[in-house]
Amino acid sequence: MSQQYWEQRYLAQDMPWEKGAPSPGLVDFLAANPDLKRGTVCVPGCGTGHDAREFAKAGFDTFGYDLAPSAIALADENTKAEGIVAKFLLGDFLRDQPPQLFDWLFEHTLFCAINPSERDEYVRATLRWLKPGRDYLAVNYFIPDTDGPPFGVERAEIWQRFSPHFELLAEWTPRSYPNRTNLERMFWWRRK
Ligand SMILES: C[S@@+](CC[C@H](N)C(=O)[O-])C[C@H]1O[C@@H](n2cnc3c(N)ncnc32)[C@H](O)[C@@H]1O
Repeated sequence: MSQQYWEQRYLAQDMPWEKGAPSPGLVDFLAANPDLKRGTVCVPGCGTGHDAREFAKAGFDTFGYDLAPSAIALADENTKAEGIVAKFLLGDFLRDQPPQLFDWLFEHTLFCAINPSERDEYVRATLRWLKPGRDYLAVNYFIPDTDGPPFGVERAEIWQRFSPHFELLAEWTPRSYPNRTNLERMFWWRRK
């Protein structure tokens, strides 16, 4: 999907993914793991910034990236309004060279938003943006849809794509927004 496609969705306010709150799975993960090693976190496809703000509130040095200028403007505005410090930058996670390497990478509804033909590029991007030995936390969306976005994925594909490059520390079914209950799965990976 092009930058124009995503920007148009924001301009038309056609954003069914926008729940007005961070991923419940992320909220629970941060609450259950208060002693995580802090550092920088990259939230690619950050949208209006709910997940990024959750990381910032938990003490991470937070960077949100998005392809759509309107998403970045909204994320910045909402974050300043809440008095939270996080940086939001226009960027293409799949194609850009990262301005820095990150300690944490958080996936939430970007993998399912890209065209499945771009998934090889997505995996290469995780390796480009994340420091070796550091953590990739993902909320994956296990739906059957092939006419996305969102595009579905199954566990077998997630395993096949990521396990060669990452050690799986844990996986679980998280608490979800009401319309995604039992359709999400979280994976906590460490880059080899
Ligand atoms: C389905 S929305 C999810 C937004 C946010 N993660 C959330 O859950 O509210 C997907 C987001 O990814 C952004 N996006 C799509 N392709 C991207 C890319 N290659 N690099 C960075 N952002 C991208 C879109 O502009 C959009 O904001």
